[in-house]
Amino acid sequence: IPPDANFYSAEQCRELDRRAIASGIPGFELMSRAGAAAFTLLQQRWSDCSPIEIFCGGGNNGGDGYIVAALAAEAGIPVRLWSLKDELNGDAALARAAAERAGVVIQAWQGELPQAGAVIVDALLGTGLSGEVREPYSAAIKAINHSGCPVLGVDIPSGLCSDTGVALGEVVRADITLSFIALKLGLVTSIAPEFVGELILNDLQIPASVYSEMVPQASAINRCVLQARLGARPRHAHKGMFGHVLVVGGDYGMAGAAILSASAAARCGAGLVSCATREENLAALLSVRPEVMGRGVEGSGDLESLLERASVLAVGPGLGQQDWGAELLKHTLATDVPVVLDADALNLIAREQFKLRKEGSAAPRVLTPHPAEAARLLGISTAEVQADRRAAVLAIAKRYSATVLLKGAGTLIAEFDQSGQPCVAVNLGGNPGMASGGMGDVLTGMIAALLAQGLSAFEATCLAASLHCRAADFAAAEGERGMLAMDVVAQLRRVIN
Ligand code: APR
Repeated sequence: IPPDANFYSAEQCRELDRRAIASGIPGFELMSRAGAAAFTLLQQRWSDCSPIEIFCGGGNNGGDGYIVAALAAEAGIPVRLWSLKDELNGDAALARAAAERAGVVIQAWQGELPQAGAVIVDALLGTGLSGEVREPYSAAIKAINHSGCPVLGVDIPSGLCSDTGVALGEVVRADITLSFIALKLGLVTSIAPEFVGELILNDLQIPASVYSEMVPQASAINRCVLQARLGARPRHAHKGMFGHVLVVGGDYGMAGAAILSASAAARCGAGLVSCATREENLAALLSVRPEVMGRGVEGSGDLESLLERASVLAVGPGLGQQDWGAELLKHTLATDVPVVLDADALNLIAREQFKLRKEGSAAPRVLTPHPAEAARLLGISTAEVQADRRAAVLAIAKRYSATVLLKGAGTLIAEFDQSGQPCVAVNLGGNPGMASGGMGDVLTGMIAALLAQGLSAFEATCLAASLHCRAADFAAAEGERGMLAMDVVAQLRRVIN
């Protein structure tokens, strides 16, 4: 998929379909192009699998499947077609007729399992899925998943919600998903990565004008463009040009979080990094990262001189939720420099209803909650956050007038621009090795370092999210299990340059 990919809702995809047809490409022609693209991909990837077993639903997604069947039969490739619904309408009915003309035997599915050695085409349910998957679709999805055969998902794996990426019951586990005309946000966020496999977009050669003036639900992070914004370092550079990050955190027992954040900030090119933490942590900090200026703080009074020198604050890693952390947090929120807020800073903000800025200030605030922290910030359940991650990230951005990064697979970054329009980016990449303690602390330090080097809050957050995953993907070359946050820090210099 292209680096500047956009992601749309099911409703918008229907509108794009309508516009494509209005531009002069008949619906059946679009369906024929989709089926042909799927058939070509099957031949490229699984030419030694036989037969092709195609599961067709009763809508246009099923129609795409009938076209694949027709093309396979015409090419003399063995094909078994399982129909979940006999009465079809419109273009899907035309596609079924084309399959019959090509000699495809259409069988009503009655619980048969796919043959060993087959490749499966999932054309059961696409963007038209509404509500929980019903029978017999649910049973057919189970049969597909239990077969052990490779699966090509047509447009979106059946059972996945195109808008939110949540499972609406059983979901087909695809090896490759070939999506048409436009990518759906539900292909990349929430649980989607578990089911989508390799994601490929085919625009069916519809004119670019079809997409104009349609604001996508989210855009992919274009890492190269953002990295270019950082620019090369001038030859006459000095450390004062790249900002001074102050990490605030590390209450008793949580020194590591602050050390990881400070290390990440340093490795992402901040000119100077300081760390305000418990006195007891200083020896550990120095031994890991002597470049960081550690300062033991008892309370907000000790913070004053540090705040005067910092250009960006990263508050929250290991901050704890005791009086010590609450006092430091409150003090940092009264500053006019950009502040990145993570972990217990978010929990304290939710619990104490702290204001994020002093009256009249427009200083940037970046919040980086995981789903449970997001739920606390909104006063809803984690399940509600995950049920519609885009709605949740926007709700936090609005409530706190902040740039917000919602963690979890398909990380979303959102803010409202000056005209009140929502901007949403989705981060692709990363791996399950990142599901371990300290990874979020690294991200916090990275965002702060990029802010310190002059990127806007949205740019810094997007680029940090992208580089964090890229570094983690490099680190995972030695295995996902057991990958540590410091292994990611060790890759930061490579990815930032
Ligand atoms: N359980 C079972 N069947 C359902 C459910 C459900 N929860 N929800 C909808 N259906 C059935 C409808 O009754 C209908 O037969 O799914 C069918 C519609 O699904 P789609 O084929 O996804 O919708 P449609 O709008 O016809 O086609 C959209 O066509 O452009 C192609 O593949 C592309 O995904 C896109 C699809």
